[in-house]
Amino acid sequence: MNIIIATHNQGKVREMNFLFKEFIPQTYNINLLSLNDNNYSCIPEIVEDGNSFKANAIKKATLTANYTEQIVIADDSGLVVDALNGEPGIFSSRYAGENATDEGNIEKLLEKLNNVPKDFRTAHFVCVIAIAAPDNLIGTFEGKCYGMIGTEIKGNNGFGYDPVFIRTDSGKTFAELPHDVKNKISHRARAFEKASATIEKYIK
Ligand code: IMP
Repeated sequence: MNIIIATHNQGKVREMNFLFKEFIPQTYNINLLSLNDNNYSCIPEIVEDGNSFKANAIKKATLTANYTEQIVIADDSGLVVDALNGEPGIFSSRYAGENATDEGNIEKLLEKLNNVPKDFRTAHFVCVIAIAAPDNLIGTFEGKCYGMIGTEIKGNNGFGYDPVFIRTDSGKTFAELPHDVKNKISHRARAFEKASATIEKYIK
């Protein structure tokens, strides 16, 4: 059976593949596809105009399920920085502008936090996973992961803000941690773990 991950973001696709292997028994014969797959490249860009992670996740999941007529998992996620009153939040992917790169977003974030001392650089990632079938929102699941924003980029793994997001327990950025370590503690892993029983119910 096909399940579509409603994203073009290769970082998210990689992590979702890992999480499926981690939380869903391999006995199920699932073909995990994304919007980068040839069959779905014609799907129009979904405008993320909701005012919360949950609203955007629901919109991405339900519209994609209606277009593809398949079960869809959508992830809306982002970084919430306390000293910036929650920025970049739902604008995380386009913080530095409409066609922003990960590097551009990080540069803007570090600039804005330039004069903020270490103890006040607290932040967390949020991930809301929405699951939908055609004409049917099945459920939403939220996960969070807490840490600090560093003053320089460190590490080559992961994507997005990973090179500046430091977990206080290890002192390492998400980009310095091996993939399997990030994928056990991340906001996405926590949301996926909550979603896994529901996903299993629909693929049995
Ligand atoms: P979305 O596609 O609107 O959900 O945008 C998510 C954005 O949040 C990404 O483009 C990243 O900038 C950021 N983000 C979400 N999850 C992560 C993560 O696990 N690591 C680093 N950045 C993330």
